[in-house]
Amino acid sequence: MCGIIGYVGKKKPIPVLIEGLKQLEYRGYDSAGIAVVLNEEVRIRRVKGKIALLEKSLEDSPLDGLYGLGHTRWATHGRPSEENAHPHRDCTGTIVVVHNGIIENYLDIKESLKKKGHQFKTETDSEVIAHLVEEYFEGTLENAVLKAVKELEGAYAVAVISTKDPQKIVAAKIGPPAVVGLGEEEFLVSSDINPLLKYTQNIVFLEDRDIAVITPAGVQFLDFGGRKLQKKIDHITWNPMMIEKRGYKHFMLKEIFEQPQVVRDTLQGRLSLDSANVCLSEIGIPDEILSDTGRVVIIACGTSYHAGLVGKYFIEAMAGVPVDLEFASEYRYRDFILDEKALVVVISQSGETADTLAALRAVKEKGPQTLAVCNVVSSSIAREAAGVLYTHAGPEIGVAATKTFIAQLTAMALLGLHLAQVKGTAGNKERLRLIEELLRIPHRMEHILHDVQKIEKLAARFVSFNHFLYLGRWVSYPAALEGALKLKEISYIHAEGYPGGEMKHGPIALIDDKMPTMVIIPKDRVYDKMLSNISEIKTRIGYIVAVAFDNDETIASRVDEVLPVPPVDPLFSPFVTILPLQLFAYYIAAIRGADVDQPRNLAKSVTVE
Ligand code: G6P
Repeated sequence: MCGIIGYVGKKKPIPVLIEGLKQLEYRGYDSAGIAVVLNEEVRIRRVKGKIALLEKSLEDSPLDGLYGLGHTRWATHGRPSEENAHPHRDCTGTIVVVHNGIIENYLDIKESLKKKGHQFKTETDSEVIAHLVEEYFEGTLENAVLKAVKELEGAYAVAVISTKDPQKIVAAKIGPPAVVGLGEEEFLVSSDINPLLKYTQNIVFLEDRDIAVITPAGVQFLDFGGRKLQKKIDHITWNPMMIEKRGYKHFMLKEIFEQPQVVRDTLQGRLSLDSANVCLSEIGIPDEILSDTGRVVIIACGTSYHAGLVGKYFIEAMAGVPVDLEFASEYRYRDFILDEKALVVVISQSGETADTLAALRAVKEKGPQTLAVCNVVSSSIAREAAGVLYTHAGPEIGVAATKTFIAQLTAMALLGLHLAQVKGTAGNKERLRLIEELLRIPHRMEHILHDVQKIEKLAARFVSFNHFLYLGRWVSYPAALEGALKLKEISYIHAEGYPGGEMKHGPIALIDDKMPTMVIIPKDRVYDKMLSNISEIKTRIGYIVAVAFDNDETIASRVDEVLPVPPVDPLFSPFVTILPLQLFAYYIAAIRGADVDQPRNLAKSVTVE
């Protein structure tokens, strides 16, 4: 996935680049590097490992420069090592490149450049870009980049500097994101907006086949044909305070605690108690079209997929429309069938996930309505879908998604209500009841967060187990999947989420005193069925922790431990049942000393296939 950053302006570049890389570190953290230019000389520092090591190396032996590039790597081609870390150079050492993505034809390019005498030093695909720019350099850097990109196949966001055309960064992209920040006499390019917010909130999102020529005098935008472009400047309302830990040990914990507010923010201005209406005119798809929806197809990856599964239950229950849920990575290669009454909803926190974006593009070719549910304003998916429903979670830094999941649930509840309203499948009374229930959710969540000690203590007792089963049914099934995913992601403990009814078809064979089961059992339509699961597990001496409604004496008498949550409408129970599961995973990982915010091998935004 990798993160790229570049800075040209009045400040010393290294602190800007290091701070920016720290904010991009979630994109990859196996090696890092920077390049700065001073007196027509490129100075490079690279390390294997995290940004902190790069920072330490620069403290021990400082570099000076006037402008430069930085990179944090998530290895695809070439193992993590100092040599394979970016920035990469051409043969002359005057051209330097940082790259996010995969150059699919790099071996062919490498072979042909070798025949022309180029010498390669790394195992990476990215190095060919520096040599291609070298090959084409004549006049300006942008001219060379314009020629080089014509030969590249694959996906890339790339930033290039050269001492032969100083005080200039040229950035280009196809696929992975790249954004340009327009400050006061300072300009930046980055993989996302977070590193830019300290300097400016005026952002240009590069589209595929855009080139940005960034100098201290300003930024010029070109297409791949070299024609000048007028780009829209977005004013971003996120502020730099939002990306600080503010006293929490980890971003993930801070983000878990932000969830009640995230629900409020995502609901704000979109509900009316007076009319029992949801107002989603902002999404840009007219009600007349939505009211004609005959089928909804939800496409997503990872945690967003789990939010989609909750969304399926919401929409089916509220609007009576059939909903299919699909993994983007599968759907994009399927011979899928969509008619003109289908509404395709793509859910993506980042709005940049390569598979989700590709699935959206494949869907658009067939013509149905598309709606994105995204957290990042003006991200690729948000721009390319016909409509967009933003989740207002603010920036999420922890790699394991928490508050953005809750924001996605909120968005799916709004969508379900909105479809029910425009299709007339739920009357005023029922809509009002659901709206009131939704508005009560943040307070219920706060109740859980007021006392997390019990969860922390329980986690301490379970810290040495190596396998967990998570069981839930109906809307608690996605909660089980998401709870198990959190544990896997950050503590590296094997955890399986399963629908309760399927337990007897396999997982029951695993149950013993070494495999605890987390049972998500709010008082809902499948409560009695889940009680049977509990009996079956107890018969096989399995240890059970139940997430259940407060004061549920029946559960308390049948399981080993209860993590209580306040009662809510059963349909909305995932809003509350997920909280103890997130916290349980968090505390287990923290107690085990795991790198909670940056778990191994993962990246927050998967912009390669
Ligand atoms: C990665 C992240 C997950 C996320 C998934 C989908 O795997 O680590 O937390 O759920 O991508 O990301 P998206 O931005 O499309 O929601």
